[in-house]
Amino acid sequence: MTTKKIAVLFSGSGTNLENLFVKIHNKTFNGVRIEIALTLCNKDDAAGIEKSQKYGVEPLIIKHKEYPQREEFDKRVVEIIRAHEIDLCVLAGFMRILTPYFTKNVKAINIHPSLLPLFKGADAIRQSYEASAKKAGASVHFVNEELDGGEVILQKSFTRTKDMSYEEYEANIHKIEYEILPQAVVDVVANDRR
Ligand code: GRF
Repeated sequence: MTTKKIAVLFSGSGTNLENLFVKIHNKTFNGVRIEIALTLCNKDDAAGIEKSQKYGVEPLIIKHKEYPQREEFDKRVVEIIRAHEIDLCVLAGFMRILTPYFTKNVKAINIHPSLLPLFKGADAIRQSYEASAKKAGASVHFVNEELDGGEVILQKSFTRTKDMSYEEYEANIHKIEYEILPQAVVDVVANDRR
Protein backbone atom coordinates (compact mmCIF):
# COMPACT_ATOMS: atom_id res chain seq x y z
CA MET A 1 0.00 0.00 0.00
CA THR A 2 1.18 3.55 -0.75
CA THR A 3 1.40 6.14 2.01
CA LYS A 4 1.07 9.81 1.10
CA LYS A 5 2.39 12.33 3.57
CA ILE A 6 0.68 15.64 4.09
CA ALA A 7 1.73 18.72 6.04
CA VAL A 8 -0.85 20.98 7.64
CA LEU A 9 0.09 24.64 8.21
CA PHE A 10 -2.03 26.70 10.59
CA SER A 11 -1.95 29.92 12.63
CA GLY A 12 -4.98 29.88 14.90
CA SER A 13 -7.60 27.72 16.53
CA GLY A 14 -6.86 24.68 14.38
CA THR A 15 -10.40 23.33 14.07
CA ASN A 16 -9.78 22.38 10.44
CA LEU A 17 -6.55 20.72 11.49
CA GLU A 18 -8.38 18.67 14.13
CA ASN A 19 -11.04 17.72 11.62
CA LEU A 20 -8.32 16.40 9.28
CA PHE A 21 -6.88 14.29 12.08
CA VAL A 22 -10.32 12.82 12.78
CA LYS A 23 -11.38 12.21 9.20
CA ILE A 24 -8.28 11.27 7.20
CA HIS A 25 -5.14 10.78 9.34
CA ASN A 26 -3.84 7.20 9.08
CA LYS A 27 -6.86 6.20 7.04
CA THR A 28 -6.86 4.61 3.61
CA PHE A 29 -8.69 5.97 0.58
CA ASN A 30 -8.62 4.29 -2.82
CA GLY A 31 -5.65 2.18 -1.65
CA VAL A 32 -3.68 5.21 -0.43
CA ARG A 33 -2.97 5.72 3.25
CA ILE A 34 -2.87 9.39 4.24
CA GLU A 35 -0.59 10.46 7.06
CA ILE A 36 -0.38 13.90 8.61
CA ALA A 37 3.40 13.73 8.90
CA LEU A 38 4.02 17.36 9.77
CA THR A 39 2.13 20.22 11.36
CA LEU A 40 3.62 23.68 11.33
CA CYS A 41 2.51 26.89 12.98
CA ASN A 42 3.89 30.43 12.75
CA LYS A 43 2.66 31.48 16.22
CA ASP A 44 3.72 29.98 19.52
CA ASP A 45 0.38 30.71 21.26
CA ALA A 46 -2.00 29.24 18.69
CA ALA A 47 -4.74 27.05 20.13
CA GLY A 48 -4.19 24.57 17.31
CA ILE A 49 -0.85 23.54 18.83
CA GLU A 50 -2.55 21.54 21.60
CA LYS A 51 -4.93 20.00 19.09
CA SER A 52 -2.02 18.64 17.07
CA GLN A 53 -0.32 17.33 20.23
CA LYS A 54 -3.56 15.55 21.17
CA TYR A 55 -3.20 13.46 18.02
CA GLY A 56 0.46 12.73 18.68
CA VAL A 57 2.08 15.16 16.24
CA GLU A 58 4.29 17.80 17.86
CA PRO A 59 3.96 20.91 15.70
CA LEU A 60 7.00 22.77 14.50
CA ILE A 61 6.78 26.40 15.50
CA ILE A 62 8.46 28.70 13.01
CA LYS A 63 7.83 32.26 14.12
CA HIS A 64 7.55 34.56 11.12
CA LYS A 65 8.53 37.49 13.35
CA GLU A 66 12.03 36.06 13.55
CA TYR A 67 12.42 36.42 9.77
CA PRO A 68 12.65 40.06 8.69
CA GLN A 69 12.27 39.07 5.03
CA ARG A 70 9.08 37.27 3.97
CA GLU A 71 11.06 35.10 1.54
CA GLU A 72 13.52 33.98 4.23
CA PHE A 73 10.60 32.62 6.25
CA ASP A 74 9.24 30.83 3.18
CA LYS A 75 12.67 29.34 2.42
CA ARG A 76 12.83 27.85 5.91
CA VAL A 77 9.31 26.44 5.61
CA VAL A 78 10.05 24.94 2.18
CA GLU A 79 13.24 23.38 3.55
CA ILE A 80 11.25 21.72 6.35
CA ILE A 81 8.55 20.48 3.97
CA ARG A 82 11.23 18.96 1.72
CA ALA A 83 13.03 17.34 4.65
CA HIS A 84 9.78 15.60 5.62
CA GLU A 85 9.21 14.37 2.04
CA ILE A 86 5.71 15.82 1.97
CA ASP A 87 3.42 15.00 -0.95
CA LEU A 88 0.89 17.75 -0.31
CA CYS A 89 0.84 20.81 1.90
CA VAL A 90 -2.53 21.88 3.30
CA LEU A 91 -3.02 25.48 4.41
CA ALA A 92 -5.71 25.39 7.08
CA GLY A 93 -6.03 28.88 8.50
CA PHE A 94 -2.38 29.72 7.79
CA MET A 95 -2.49 33.50 7.92
CA ARG A 96 0.62 34.31 5.92
CA ILE A 97 0.91 35.64 2.42
CA LEU A 98 3.28 33.30 0.63
CA THR A 99 5.95 34.40 -1.81
CA PRO A 100 6.54 32.83 -5.23
CA TYR A 101 9.46 30.95 -3.64
CA PHE A 102 6.90 28.91 -1.70
CA THR A 103 4.26 28.61 -4.41
CA LYS A 104 6.81 27.48 -7.04
CA ASN A 105 8.40 24.86 -4.82
CA VAL A 106 5.49 23.35 -2.89
CA LYS A 107 2.29 21.69 -4.04
CA ALA A 108 -0.33 23.17 -1.75
CA ILE A 109 -4.06 23.63 -1.30
CA ASN A 110 -5.88 26.19 0.84
CA ILE A 111 -9.30 26.41 2.50
CA HIS A 112 -10.98 29.80 2.14
CA PRO A 113 -14.29 30.78 3.77
CA SER A 114 -16.06 32.23 0.73
CA LEU A 115 -17.33 31.25 -2.67
CA LEU A 116 -14.21 32.19 -4.62
CA PRO A 117 -13.54 34.28 -6.63
CA LEU A 118 -15.75 36.38 -4.33
CA PHE A 119 -14.28 37.83 -1.14
CA LYS A 120 -10.59 36.98 -1.39
CA GLY A 121 -8.21 37.84 1.43
CA ALA A 122 -8.66 38.34 5.16
CA ASP A 123 -12.01 38.67 6.93
CA ALA A 124 -13.94 37.02 4.11
CA ILE A 125 -16.80 35.81 6.34
CA ARG A 126 -17.49 39.28 7.71
CA GLN A 127 -17.17 40.83 4.25
CA SER A 128 -19.66 38.45 2.65
CA TYR A 129 -22.08 38.75 5.58
CA GLU A 130 -22.03 42.52 5.35
CA ALA A 131 -22.42 42.45 1.58
CA SER A 132 -25.69 40.54 2.17
CA ALA A 133 -24.69 37.83 -0.30
CA LYS A 134 -27.64 35.44 -0.78
CA LYS A 135 -25.38 32.42 -1.10
CA ALA A 136 -22.35 31.78 1.03
CA GLY A 137 -19.95 28.90 1.48
CA ALA A 138 -16.34 27.82 1.33
CA SER A 139 -13.80 26.82 -1.30
CA VAL A 140 -10.68 24.69 -1.48
CA HIS A 141 -8.22 25.74 -4.15
CA PHE A 142 -4.72 25.04 -5.35
CA VAL A 143 -2.24 27.63 -4.11
CA ASN A 144 -0.49 29.80 -6.66
CA GLU A 145 1.24 33.18 -6.52
CA GLU A 146 -2.08 35.06 -6.48
CA LEU A 147 -3.70 35.33 -3.05
CA ASP A 148 -6.74 32.98 -2.95
CA GLY A 149 -6.48 32.88 -6.74
CA GLY A 150 -5.54 29.30 -7.70
CA GLU A 151 -7.86 26.83 -9.40
CA VAL A 152 -10.84 25.81 -7.28
CA ILE A 153 -10.94 22.11 -6.40
CA LEU A 154 -14.16 21.99 -4.38
CA GLN A 155 -16.77 24.50 -3.37
CA LYS A 156 -20.04 24.18 -1.50
CA SER A 157 -22.69 26.73 -0.67
CA PHE A 158 -25.80 27.30 1.41
CA THR A 159 -28.61 29.80 1.03
CA ARG A 160 -28.74 32.49 3.60
CA THR A 161 -32.09 33.10 5.24
CA LYS A 162 -33.27 36.64 5.93
CA ASP A 163 -32.92 36.52 9.69
CA MET A 164 -29.67 34.51 9.86
CA SER A 165 -27.39 35.87 12.59
CA TYR A 166 -23.68 36.34 11.99
CA GLU A 167 -22.92 33.45 14.37
CA GLU A 168 -25.23 31.09 12.52
CA TYR A 169 -23.82 32.23 9.18
CA GLU A 170 -20.25 31.64 10.33
CA ALA A 171 -21.13 28.23 11.78
CA ASN A 172 -22.64 27.18 8.44
CA ILE A 173 -19.45 28.18 6.65
CA HIS A 174 -17.25 26.23 9.06
CA LYS A 175 -19.48 23.18 8.72
CA ILE A 176 -18.91 23.28 4.96
CA GLU A 177 -15.17 23.69 5.49
CA TYR A 178 -15.12 20.52 7.59
CA GLU A 179 -16.78 18.64 4.72
CA ILE A 180 -14.84 19.92 1.75
CA LEU A 181 -11.26 20.19 3.04
CA PRO A 182 -10.83 16.47 3.88
CA GLN A 183 -12.60 15.58 0.63
CA ALA A 184 -10.26 17.80 -1.38
CA VAL A 185 -7.17 16.28 0.27
CA VAL A 186 -8.42 12.80 -0.62
CA ASP A 187 -9.19 13.93 -4.18
CA VAL A 188 -5.68 15.30 -4.65
CA VAL A 189 -3.58 12.63 -2.95
CA ALA A 190 -5.65 9.49 -3.46
CA ASN A 191 -7.80 10.24 -6.51
CA ASP A 192 -5.06 12.04 -8.44
CA ARG A 193 -6.95 15.33 -8.83
CA ARG A 194 -4.61 17.83 -10.48
C1 GRF B 1 -11.03 29.04 8.50
O1 GRF B 1 -12.26 29.69 8.42
C2 GRF B 1 -10.30 29.12 7.19
O2 GRF B 1 -11.14 29.09 6.07
C3 GRF B 1 -9.63 30.46 7.29
O3 GRF B 1 -9.21 30.54 8.62
C4 GRF B 1 -10.08 29.76 9.43
C5 GRF B 1 -9.21 28.83 10.23
O4 GRF B 1 -9.90 28.25 11.30
N1 GRF B 1 -8.59 30.60 6.32
P1 GRF B 1 -9.27 27.06 12.13
O5 GRF B 1 -7.91 27.55 12.62
O6 GRF B 1 -9.15 25.88 11.23
O7 GRF B 1 -10.20 26.83 13.27
